[in-house]
Amino acid sequence: MILAIESSCDDSSVAVMDECSFELKFYEKISQEADHAKYGGVVPELAARLHTEALPRILQRAKPYFSELSAVAATNTPGLSVSLIGGVNMAKALALALNLPLIGVNHLVGHIYSLFLGGEARFPMGVLLVSGGHTMVLDIDAAGGIEILATTGDDSFGESFDKIAKMLGLGYPGGALIEELAKGGEPRFELPVPLKGDRRLEYSFSGLKNAVRVQIEKLKEAGELDERAMRDLARCFEDAACAHILDKLQRIFELRRFARFGVVGGASANLHLRGLLTDLCERASCEILFAPMKFCSDNAAMIARAAIEKLRKKEFTAPAELEIIPHLNLRSAFE
Ligand code: KG4
Ligand code: ZN
Repeated sequence: MILAIESSCDDSSVAVMDECSFELKFYEKISQEADHAKYGGVVPELAARLHTEALPRILQRAKPYFSELSAVAATNTPGLSVSLIGGVNMAKALALALNLPLIGVNHLVGHIYSLFLGGEARFPMGVLLVSGGHTMVLDIDAAGGIEILATTGDDSFGESFDKIAKMLGLGYPGGALIEELAKGGEPRFELPVPLKGDRRLEYSFSGLKNAVRVQIEKLKEAGELDERAMRDLARCFEDAACAHILDKLQRIFELRRFARFGVVGGASANLHLRGLLTDLCERASCEILFAPMKFCSDNAAMIARAAIEKLRKKEFTAPAELEIIPHLNLRSAFE
């Protein structure tokens, strides 16, 4: 079995997975969302402190499995440095104490493997990764090699939901809150679909975010920012953000033929987005795959699943050598 730790942002999670059957023997996650909510976003220093409290507590409960482990893994890139350090240091200590090999896992690769938690991976495929930290379209070849086809030049898809939620005073994280608010909304505000008509395969959410900010200010000045206006604005924002994702994907689908397309990351829980992508894939006769709702957001099960691939190839790192790499290096992102 393999034990994996995820602590790249604001979730402390530990999983123990059987390396042959992929059965999840142990799984726990302590989310810090409520602790960060009053600040409208993740406060790194607070996240670090909460990880150092939560991880030993979860590991204590995973202890009965320690004698059956064949490796220890932790997310080491990308993420908040002070958060990554917590999980990586605990994994190093465990590997040293139990005399086990150590595996560093790329968090984004982890999200991809959330599609294959219970079985063998099936590549080649296209992937849309939409989370709080990243927005990317990837082409994965039969051997698992990853090519980045599109990424965001500024904010990520999930982050834009968080920022709009903050502007509307809704709390953090904003994705599910905006989606819920948007349900009863009317599409009465004109918001721009970013980079529409621009042939670049790139995402950008900062212009849309500013358009929402301007609209909020106008409504405030007119004394019209009531509950109905907030609902309508949430609906228009969600429509524009999802239309932007779809617009660029449509272009990518014209350029590449995918037999299979996976959608991963915390924001892949958005049902409006899921609906649009399901239609797109149906039109392209392409099989669509989603991660189970429970494992869309950050979790250690996907890290354990990704680590099993490295365990098979014996891609270990000595505890003294495993570095944390907070920033995503696009050129070597998935090495
Ligand atoms: O993958 P994740 O848990 O963390 C990162 O790796 O960033 O993704 C969290 C992000 C947050 O920005 C959150 O607002 C967004 O996913 N999210 C959503 C929804 N549920 C979560 N965004 C849009 N619609 C949702 N239903
Ligand atoms: Zn994530």
